[in-house]
Amino acid sequence: MKNKVLVTGGCGYIGSHTVVELIDNNFEVVIIDDLSNSNKKTIDNIEQITGVKPTFCECDLKDINHVRNILKYNKDIKATIHFAAYKAVGESVEKPLLYYQNNLISLINILTTQLERGNTNFIFSSSATVYGNPKTLPITENNETQRPFSPYGNTKKMAEEILEDLSKAHKKTNIISLRYFNPIGAHQSGLIGELPNGIPNNLMPYITQTAVGLRDKLSVYGNDYPTKDGTPIRDYIHVVDLAKAHVKALKRQLDNEQDKNFEIFNLGTGNGYSVMEVIKTFEEVSKMKLNFEIVQRRDGDVPKLFANANLAEEKLNWKAESDLKEMIASAWKWEQKVRT
Ligand code: UFG
Repeated sequence: MKNKVLVTGGCGYIGSHTVVELIDNNFEVVIIDDLSNSNKKTIDNIEQITGVKPTFCECDLKDINHVRNILKYNKDIKATIHFAAYKAVGESVEKPLLYYQNNLISLINILTTQLERGNTNFIFSSSATVYGNPKTLPITENNETQRPFSPYGNTKKMAEEILEDLSKAHKKTNIISLRYFNPIGAHQSGLIGELPNGIPNNLMPYITQTAVGLRDKLSVYGNDYPTKDGTPIRDYIHVVDLAKAHVKALKRQLDNEQDKNFEIFNLGTGNGYSVMEVIKTFEEVSKMKLNFEIVQRRDGDVPKLFANANLAEEKLNWKAESDLKEMIASAWKWEQKVRT
């Protein structure tokens, strides 16, 4: 018998890559997604990659009765991996209530319905944004968290606080929060990847969309930061490596290996690269010149953010494998494929 796992947001960027890894590791997957920032065609592409079609339920998690109904037909779910959330930083600044309502009500509803059914294994999709502008680097899980700059980031911090309270009140729950650094790249098949709605916020899709001719030029937000070349440093991690970490975390839960019932892990490579290094590596990989210009800093950007991911290595037996070139090559392959 395969273990059944519920994946919310399973048609999205990180969700779809995780579904592939779950299926490859012999899990049965049920996806809930409202398709607000994803496409149902992803299900067919997952089937093409894995040979297995996951069960798909179109549902807005804010509708608790709909969620209850879905769970009625899936009584044997062993764990939930919760990706479903809005994630556009800029939009969240303009529409904070939309973000608090969607991201927090969805979380509360999925937790409520799972607890009602006695499903107490829960993996949460968190973000390094909870560290704000860190005082020390590399960032360990013991670094203090700060109020994130954006409402989006704050929903991640608040969600972790909700999960911590829940873990104290319900000792039988097993919760793992995974704090992602900067996920980029796409599946090697070129069948799934990142497809942002409208103008991308993030560096990698902006670069590939510029190279493919969809955008005129990349704006580099500031080159006067206290870093080696003046542009901000981030810890870019391949989305497939990230997906694999979810499978490891899930196995830890199902094997009852958690040291405490609320655990937090950083997911990064431990290497920091500047914006200019990413651009240079893209130019190397694509053999193209990228059109870019240096403009003013963007509000809320911190100079340097990179992980110490030793805890994940020790406890999850997981380590990121791809280097920057591989990540960028896969993102570029995806962008070209998706535009043809
Ligand atoms: N950048 C540009 N031009 C762009 C886009 C980004 O120069 O068009 C720069 C940014 O200034 C930053 C770097 O590229 O220095 C990375 O920016 P991203 O937007 O790709 O990523 P962030 O680090 O700002 O944000 C990411 C995720 C968030 C998450 C955060 C956690 O997108 O969801 O990491 O730190 F909250």
